[in-house]
Amino acid sequence: MTLTDDPYAKVKKTPNPRNAGTPPAYFSAWDLHAYYGESYIVQGVSFNIHEGEILALLGRNGAGKTSTLRTIARAGNPELKHGEIWLDHKPIHEMKSHDAAKNGIQLVPEDRRIIPGLTVEENLQLAQIEPPHGWSIERIYELFPRLGERRKQEGVTLSGGEQQMLAIGRALARDIKLLLLDEPYEGLAPVIVQEIEKTLAEIKKLGITTVIVEQNAIAALQLADRAIILDMGQVVFDGTAQEVLDDAALRQEYLAI
Ligand SMILES: Nc1ncnc2c1ncn2[C@@H]1O[C@H](COP(=O)(O)OP(=O)(O)OP(=O)(O)O)[C@@H](O)[C@H]1O
Ligand SMILES: [Mg+2]
Repeated sequence: MTLTDDPYAKVKKTPNPRNAGTPPAYFSAWDLHAYYGESYIVQGVSFNIHEGEILALLGRNGAGKTSTLRTIARAGNPELKHGEIWLDHKPIHEMKSHDAAKNGIQLVPEDRRIIPGLTVEENLQLAQIEPPHGWSIERIYELFPRLGERRKQEGVTLSGGEQQMLAIGRALARDIKLLLLDEPYEGLAPVIVQEIEKTLAEIKKLGITTVIVEQNAIAALQLADRAIILDMGQVVFDGTAQEVLDDAALRQEYLAI
């Protein structure tokens, strides 16, 4: 996907319509173009999310899902070269990852990044080392009783499902406005997936605005209100989750399910 001609050929010339609605979208990604070095990967991605909505971000392997999440979280890689990211009236595109996190963007990466040498509780405390804080650690243990039971255990010795709970718990421990989940069910046994699904359904009831990327598209769609599908770094579908569940041809074309 290396770009050979004008890198901004696809850049939109129209203004960001985030203010067109009343009120403006809670979250808006507008015409994001992002690169890993010379590789042009996120190619003009735009979508909005309303407060409290769950959005499933779907697409085949290599479609650009992780890259889009990393762009929104303002990870240095891929590098955002054009576009706007707004969350709750704040221009996230002007921030680095640290400030994006302080402003409520919490990415739970696929590899979960539990800190070795720290207990479950210390992993959570570390997330609260700096304000603004989110949930109290006790409240996180109410949502995930297993984490409370294992609070003194080293985080990296937890099972895969428990590590996923810890990674989500750590995001909740910070001030959270947008939860970005990259493949939360990856590598987990079906019974554990069901457990995490239940928690995500609870998180949904609490009204936390969430983006879920999942290979298990059906599970993600059952949880989500809306869905977008990426293909080769571009949005090819934006609609309700039900529309994707009802459209076998669309799923076959872009998700191969
Ligand atoms: N660090 C990197 N450097 C260069 N190219 C990368 C890098 N990470 C990903 N890519 C490329 O960017 C494209 C999109 O990758 P990305 O990981 O965003 O896809 P994805 O939709 O998350 O896929 P998967 O379902 O496999 O997780 C792929 O072609 C991939 O090879
Ligand atoms: Mg990925």
